Amino acid sequence: MKRIAPSFLSADITRCAEQLTLLEQAGCSCLHLDIMDGHFVPNISFGPAWVKQLRAACGMTFDVHLMVEEPGFLLPAFAEAGAEICTVHAEAVRHLDRTLHQIRDLGMRPGVALNPASPLALVEEVLDLADLVLIMSVNPGFGGQKFIPNALRRLQRVAELRTAGGYDFLIEVDGGVTAGNAAQVAAAGADWLVAGSAVLGAADPAVAYATLAAAIGEEKA
Ligand code: DX5
Ligand code: ZN
Repeated sequence: MKRIAPSFLSADITRCAEQLTLLEQAGCSCLHLDIMDGHFVPNISFGPAWVKQLRAACGMTFDVHLMVEEPGFLLPAFAEAGAEICTVHAEAVRHLDRTLHQIRDLGMRPGVALNPASPLALVEEVLDLADLVLIMSVNPGFGGQKFIPNALRRLQRVAELRTAGGYDFLIEVDGGVTAGNAAQVAAAGADWLVAGSAVLGAADPAVAYATLAAAIGEEKA
């Protein structure tokens, strides 16, 4: 099912609860939460304590994207904070099979992410363990970057792998999604499209969300 997942990274911290309520009222059902450690990526964002507070403030599905080196130690805290989906980077985890099992054992749905330059082969052996495969369409660390076009080909190849293997994981894309490219990105194979600056960075996030949702033909839950 096609979905727009606004990224909290672009929220206005001084009025984020109001922004999230408006998004929910506009029909938005999932929120992407970007966790950055200043090590795997050259930026720092926020941690499980914020996620826990946000959990109490809204009912959207929480899609946590960990841009964190060896995030195993943080997983229990995100489970406790109320994350439903928890995605780790294949490049940041030494024992990916173990980590994906750990996420599921904690009651979350495991996802695995790949940077733009990483071979898809990095995740091929764990596709049966993942509920979500995240194809980065920018180099992670910052919102507001330009979409890297090779993501389209990569999305198509992941969709082919899913069909060939009979898997049912969601395909997510993250970075540089706008109203101008969302339809093309969805057609390439993305089920969930993360949008940061194009939604919560817009003057009216609810209207921006509705425009993107219409562009991909998002069905209401
Ligand atoms: C980038 C993050 C993204 C980011 C996307 O490192 O993973 O989720 O918020 O922002 P935009 O949509 O502005 O590229
Ligand atoms: Zn992200």
